[in-house]
Formats: sequence, structure tokens, C-alpha cells
Amino acid sequence: MNEAVISTPEWIRSLSHYKASKPIEDVARDLGLRSEDIVMLVANENPLGMSKKVRSAIAEAVFSLNRYPDADANRLQKAIAEKMGVPTDWVVIGNGSSELLGLAAQTVLSPQSSCIYPQYSFSLYPMVATVCGAKTVEVPATDDFNADLDAMLKAIDDTTRLIFLTNPNNPTGTYLPKEAIEHFLDQVPNHVFVLLDEAYVDFLEPELRLDSVALVHKHPNVMIARTFSKAYGLAGSRVGFAIAQPELLEIFNRVRHPFNVNDLSQVAALAALNDDEFIERTLENNQAGIKQLTQAFDQLELPYMGLHANFITVKVGNGDKIIECLLRKGIIVRRMASYGLSDWIRVTVGTPEENEKFLTVLKEAFSEI
Ligand SMILES: Cc1ncc(COP(=O)(O)O)c(C=O)c1O
Repeated sequence: MNEAVISTPEWIRSLSHYKASKPIEDVARDLGLRSEDIVMLVANENPLGMSKKVRSAIAEAVFSLNRYPDADANRLQKAIAEKMGVPTDWVVIGNGSSELLGLAAQTVLSPQSSCIYPQYSFSLYPMVATVCGAKTVEVPATDDFNADLDAMLKAIDDTTRLIFLTNPNNPTGTYLPKEAIEHFLDQVPNHVFVLLDEAYVDFLEPELRLDSVALVHKHPNVMIARTFSKAYGLAGSRVGFAIAQPELLEIFNRVRHPFNVNDLSQVAALAALNDDEFIERTLENNQAGIKQLTQAFDQLELPYMGLHANFITVKVGNGDKIIECLLRKGIIVRRMASYGLSDWIRVTVGTPEENEKFLTVLKEAFSEI
């Protein structure tokens, strides 16, 4: 193992550098293709690009970068508070919701404590807990790849300080019924911080949605986290937000760096927040894409997981071989082997043309291997 020159705690040495997918330009260069020929279906980004309102807002704001941004992103915080129907001091803005997950860990975890999360959930959860030296407790999922809430409750012990729960979940696309989440939160002791990660909630059918703000009202230990990276089309901008009661946020804000969200990102998120037409188009495209992809998967008799987000995890057999064939033709999807699901791949819903290209190449890959 590569020993660092400086002295680092053993839990930091146990981490590995998170390798995200490369930027489109680099992928294109490596494959000898043009950037416009690459179909990125790997990171659950919005395939429609950026909203026009966001483009104009950024173009106007670009001349004031000599100034520090608003340290607390007050305008955005206020706009989100209004939209979510909570007081302003119930909202905090993060550099992507990833930053908020990390801050949650730093706020409550230490080497003597532990953090619980379900199997098949976002890879950042164990990472942010390990950074704090805490023990990570991954609770096996149910047979249908969902979080096993009863087992998670049983896993709580004296050392538990943080629980991550995702709804709808990545990478399975499954969702938890409202009653199940409500019952779960009623059972979790009040001193345990629960972060309910709603990164994909915008894609969830309205009738399945939980009133998560009401949950925050009821539970002083619960925080909900959302992101502008998915439905709002701002993954590159890195903006997320969280809602919790002010007593929890007061501690949380002590850990957060000032100026954590840059000026252009604050402006972009503010413009995106009320661009209902863009969100509507995004949801329409997503629903149509889910139909297009699942019809094809049904014809090919490929099993798939939940359909409640903007991606589908589908069983293709040898995932690595399929990914290799797709990659050669410039189509990039997510490998699932790190979850112990090497027969599966996760594909982000693209535009109709991108989905079609993916399906054509997938069929070619099946005949090749
Ligand atoms: C479940 C979940 N939570 C949080 C995030 C982080 O999103 P971001 O940091 O871009 O807001 C992701 C990103 O893929 C995710 O899948």
C-alpha cells in the first residue's frame, strides 16, 4: 500500500479516491469520437441541458466575480423557504447535496460513533462517515432491493448517531411508502440524526410523495436534503439544500464553511427554482423515456428495478462486457459491480434519441457476446 509521507488516521488510509466518470471531452478523445457522439447516461444528469432562464441569469451575473458570494446564500435560502413553506432559518444551502451529507456526518460523528445506511444506497454515505472515523453499518436490503426499515431500527445501538435514508433510492429506483417512513421516524430515538436524502424526489409520482416538511416539523432530529443536480439540470453548478429545525441547523452551520456556494451557482439555482416549464418538460421527457426503455427491456425479457427516479437499473447478464461494448460506441452507463450486482447496469433516462441509440447498441452488444 502507498504509505503517505504525513501521518494520517487509519480510517483515512482505509479510504480510496472516488473515481467519477470522466468529462465528455476526455471520453471522446480517448475513444477517438466527437464529443457530440458521446451519450452520457451515467450520472443521472438532466438530458435536456440547462434552462434558458438559468443561462440568462448567469450571463448577467458573470461580471461580479471579483466579490465574495453571499456567505449564507440568503436570496436563494429565502426563495427556497418560500417555495417549501418554511421559515428562512430552516434552510441551508450546500455545494451540491453531497456537501450537506458530509456536513451531517461531521456534525455528529466521531471515532466512537456509528452511522447506519441501507445496502444499495448512495456510495457517499459510507465515505463521509469513514472520514469522521465512525463505524459504518450497512443494513442488508429486502429481497426487492429496498431499504429494510425494521432491520435498520434493530441496528440502532448506543453508538448510533446518524442514519441515511434515500427516497426514491439510488441506485435501485425504489421508493418507500409514506407510512413506512413515518413509522420508522417515530421509532428512531430523538438523539439520532436522520438525513432523509430526497435527491430524486422531483421524479416521484405526486401521489406517492411524502410531506417531508411535515416530518421535519414533527422531528427535531430529521433533515431533508435535496439537489439542483438532477431535475433542475444544474449538476455542474453544485447546489443542494437542506431543511431542518433551526436548533439543528444552528449546529450544522457551525461546521459549514462560509462562502461554500459560489456566486454563479447561487444565481443559477435561484433562476432554476421557479422555472416550472423546464421542470415540466423534464418530467415529461423522463416519463416518456421510462416507457421507451421499459418497453424495450420487456421485449428483451430483461428484469429491471424501481422506476421512481430518472434512471433504470436493469439486469443484462455480464455487466462489464456490456459496458465495454456500449463504451466502444460512445455510450456510458453506470457499472453496478461495486454493489455486488455485476449482472446489472444503471442507465440514466436520456432524450428519446439517446435512449434509442442506447437500445440499438445494447441489442448489438447482446448479439456480439
Ligand atoms: C441519492 C443521492 N444523493 C445525493 C446525491 C448528490 O448530488 P449532488 O451532490 O450533485 O447534489 C446524489 C448524486 O448522484 C445521489 O444519487
